[in-house]
Amino acid sequence: MKQQGMILWLTGLSGAGKTTIAHGVAQKLQRRNYRLEVLDGDVVRTHLSQGLGFSKEDRDTNVRRIGFVAELLSRNGIIAIVAAISPYREVRDQLKQTTTNFVEVYVNAPLAVCEFRDVKGLYTKAQVGQVKHFTGISDPYEEPLNPEIICQTDKFTPQQCVNQVLHYLEQKRLIDFYKNLMQISS
Ligand code: ADX
Repeated sequence: MKQQGMILWLTGLSGAGKTTIAHGVAQKLQRRNYRLEVLDGDVVRTHLSQGLGFSKEDRDTNVRRIGFVAELLSRNGIIAIVAAISPYREVRDQLKQTTTNFVEVYVNAPLAVCEFRDVKGLYTKAQVGQVKHFTGISDPYEEPLNPEIICQTDKFTPQQCVNQVLHYLEQKRLIDFYKNLMQISS
């Protein structure tokens, strides 16, 4: 099977569910033998972007680095799945314009829901000022104006969101996921 490279870019607040959806999509595609790589902001910041902070400049640098690697993978036929807050519209839009098969996924959960989940305890710390420049609390998040997909993780389960993404990719003929599935099961 000849697979197409692409950049599946998940943006959204911390705790919105980007990593969960990224790995859910990855797992399902891997089972069908798609070649892919997940680039997660939290992980990238431990090596490629080690030392960068959370100023606008550093976040944009981080996002550009991730975009650069994602493009290298994509142009070699690999599916690059990115999970990064990537809060600034301009740099996301630049990537969309300068790369091919860039699919922007807005992982959208209301701030109150992310605060309630507070998976890493960072919202609590941000509220009392122990973590500075925290996205959504003391730093901006610029919503995508025209995302290809919006996953509402407060209304749908992770599995439903994963399927929503796969359906979109199938519909746009970026993958042949369901067709293969039917061929296998028939
Ligand atoms: S981005 O803004 O540069 O795209 P990225 O996705 O790489 O962010 O990293 C975000 C992760 O860093 C969060 O999930 C959280 O665990 C951690 N983090 C630490 N400090 C902050 C902060 N001030 N704002 C947002 N995330 C932070």
